[in-house]
Amino acid sequence: MLAVVLGTRPEIIKCSPVIHEARRRGLACAIVHTGQHYTPELDEIFFQELDLPQPAYNLRVGSQPPLKQIVAILNGLHDVLSDLKPGIVMAQGDTNSVLAGALAAHKMNIPFAHLEAGLRSDDWDMPEEGNRVLAGVVADYHFCPTTVQRDRLAREDITQGVHVVGNTIVDASRYFSEVAKANSQICERLGLSQQRFALLTMHRPSNVDEPARLSQVMACLDQMARSLGFKIVFPVHPRTEKALRDSGLWNKYESSSFVLIKPLGYLDLLRLQSGAQLILTDSGGVQEEANILRVPCITLRANTERPETVTAGGNVLYAGTDSSELSALASNMMQRERNWICPFGDGQTAKRVINILNLNI
Ligand code: UD1
Ligand code: UDP
Repeated sequence: MLAVVLGTRPEIIKCSPVIHEARRRGLACAIVHTGQHYTPELDEIFFQELDLPQPAYNLRVGSQPPLKQIVAILNGLHDVLSDLKPGIVMAQGDTNSVLAGALAAHKMNIPFAHLEAGLRSDDWDMPEEGNRVLAGVVADYHFCPTTVQRDRLAREDITQGVHVVGNTIVDASRYFSEVAKANSQICERLGLSQQRFALLTMHRPSNVDEPARLSQVMACLDQMARSLGFKIVFPVHPRTEKALRDSGLWNKYESSSFVLIKPLGYLDLLRLQSGAQLILTDSGGVQEEANILRVPCITLRANTERPETVTAGGNVLYAGTDSSELSALASNMMQRERNWICPFGDGQTAKRVINILNLNI
């Protein structure tokens, strides 16, 4: 049996192609949800839209300080993995749920497969950097999206069990962006059918946790939108909503260049990404999707663990808060020919992953 440990929105999305592929081949596969994300817009909607089976277990750990959250997941996984006795535990990415999944598998002598392995930002202020490095240390299978991660792991003396397979975000976003074209009415609902707009997602602690930084970023984006004459559609992550409300910025920007809305399901988000002139984000998955959908992207960070998106020509980094600089960068990106090659593979990543894991499940 393959036990897929997941806990947050991007993990549900990126694990879904592997879960579907395992089920298509009649392989036993159980989802173990940690409950790190639990709000329906970050959780349940993705199970529905991506047609996933319900989790075999949900540990319901909820929001807690990082160490308590990791310990709660470890406690839960002890019982669940003792019960399931899987041949392999798989987790994707770099969240607290992934670190706990990796440690639990390691301590219970169950092979651990790390999907989206070898990404590094070299920014240890990010909670994710420690999670991904530590998960990599105990992983038996390292599924790297591109050769960039394989080479990075080699520099860390990790050479066994390393496979370059692409990224399952290509499998998921290619398929569901077609479904979204046919089914999502979000542009009409928001009155955007005839309107130029940018899409913004932002939830990284480095942008949202410090009120002064958040205020500067919002002001910079607002001025940029005014000078370029478009709206910024902003589906707001709960972490960011809390920060915006606590600092009075939600009220300030509610009726402005921003269209502030609740987090969206996958179909609506993909539809908005495809229709946007420009994507502004600090999300990992959205940087990748922008590249796949060939929409120019500005990443609101000083670094990225997805340098391929920048090399390909579809993404630039901007961590400043000068609206003239940002407007110039945005104009430049929007004029760029959208002919870059997606670096994350051909959409067959899940098949490759299951081919490699198959015998051991
Ligand atoms: C987590 C991951 C991050 C990932 C993101 C995906 C870690 C350290 N961080 O960040 O890598 O990019 O998920 O979205 O694992 N909240 C809710 N409802 C929820 C979940 C969270 O309201 O379902 C609120 C709570 O106030 C919580 C805050 O959001 O305190 C942050 O949640 P948390 O899971 O700690 O981190 P994320 O910012 O979601
Ligand atoms: N996403 C979504 N609805 C939203 C915002 C994001 O469906 O309102 C999707 C997005 O398309 C991408 C994934 O969530 O596939 C990215 O998740 P997130 O930004 O939360 O985390 P990260 O990728 O930064 O870890």
